[in-house]
Amino acid sequence: MTPIQETIINKKTINKPIWLMRQAGRYLPEFRKIRKVNPNFINLCLNEKLSSEITLQPLKRFRLDAGIIFSDILMIPYGLNQKVEFKKNFGPQLESLDIKKISKIKKLEFLKKLQPIYKSIKKVKENNLIKNKDLIGFVGAPWTLLVYMINKHSPKNELIKKFFKDKSLINKTLIILEKFLKIHIEEQIKSGATIIQIFDSWAGLLDEKNLSNFIYQPTINLVNHIKSLNVPVICFPRGIKNYKKFCETVKPDVINIDYNIDPALIVKDVQIPVQGGLDPKILLSNKQNLKIEALKYLNIFKDHPYIFNLGHGVLPETDPIMVEYLIKIIKDY
Ligand code: CP3
Repeated sequence: MTPIQETIINKKTINKPIWLMRQAGRYLPEFRKIRKVNPNFINLCLNEKLSSEITLQPLKRFRLDAGIIFSDILMIPYGLNQKVEFKKNFGPQLESLDIKKISKIKKLEFLKKLQPIYKSIKKVKENNLIKNKDLIGFVGAPWTLLVYMINKHSPKNELIKKFFKDKSLINKTLIILEKFLKIHIEEQIKSGATIIQIFDSWAGLLDEKNLSNFIYQPTINLVNHIKSLNVPVICFPRGIKNYKKFCETVKPDVINIDYNIDPALIVKDVQIPVQGGLDPKILLSNKQNLKIEALKYLNIFKDHPYIFNLGHGVLPETDPIMVEYLIKIIKDY
């Protein structure tokens, strides 16, 4: 069994495994080199040779316990024929959501468009670097994808005023998302993903009264589907105020916490294995501070099944030396 599966399934608490969200990305010079000559981000995700190479880049450098496939949560709107572009210094930009257009898409057409992602996973699995390690597949949660599909770009701190105006559009989109997210999850698992993480990056934008309709219920449907496929599922409802309620309601195998929540509260409130928490900005400070902060998480979760990770993705300004040092701290603990 892999170190991460020991933590999740056997609830082992010694030797905390580690991987990092956005571990394959812009802080690595070898990634930037590839990115520079591949200005179209979507096409890069659809290039199985390069995307598998990028997935393996951090595993070549560091003693990580998992790889995460180099792709993006917005490959789903892309697969549903809603145009997605990544603009420099702006982030993703989507075209207006045309419900008639996305309702027409058939499973085969969707799978054909996303085929390179599955081929990339298979290529990664052939490499020795992933042996006895997990390969994390992922999806965006229905809520976060809905946010991008309607809002058309990252919402920063709030949603556009008329976000909830067209209830029928929202409901139809959620039904389509559930169907295709399940398909995308199944294909990733068939190709070799051993764990699925659900990223709900905009969970924090919702009021308590909306959580049931937009977060709990749609996420439960995915979590149960992943469990039925016998693969562990990690949920990351970033910014959700009540992690305890989320865990009791959605029942994932692992909960990833963000850096605004007090880990000392989590260890008291949550019984399931926990992942993450460290503020990625700490990696921009210095080694001494990094050690203090990493040890804080290690000590709090000493007797709890815990997978070391961050409270959000690695920042582009991060020095890879700091990542290496963080991994050393975890491995020496
Ligand atoms: O290493 C990994 O974690 C695997 C690959 C991965 C990417 N995106 C690659 C990427 C994963 C798991 C994601 C998830 C993702 N994508 C999320 C959920 C996690 C989160 O950050 O909240 C979200 C919201 C997106 C949507 C997205 N993709 C945004 C908002 C942006 C632009 C801003 C940014 O953070 O760069 C992207 C682009 C993106 N996705 C990059 C990478 C490496 C940067 C592309 C570049 O080189 O310009």
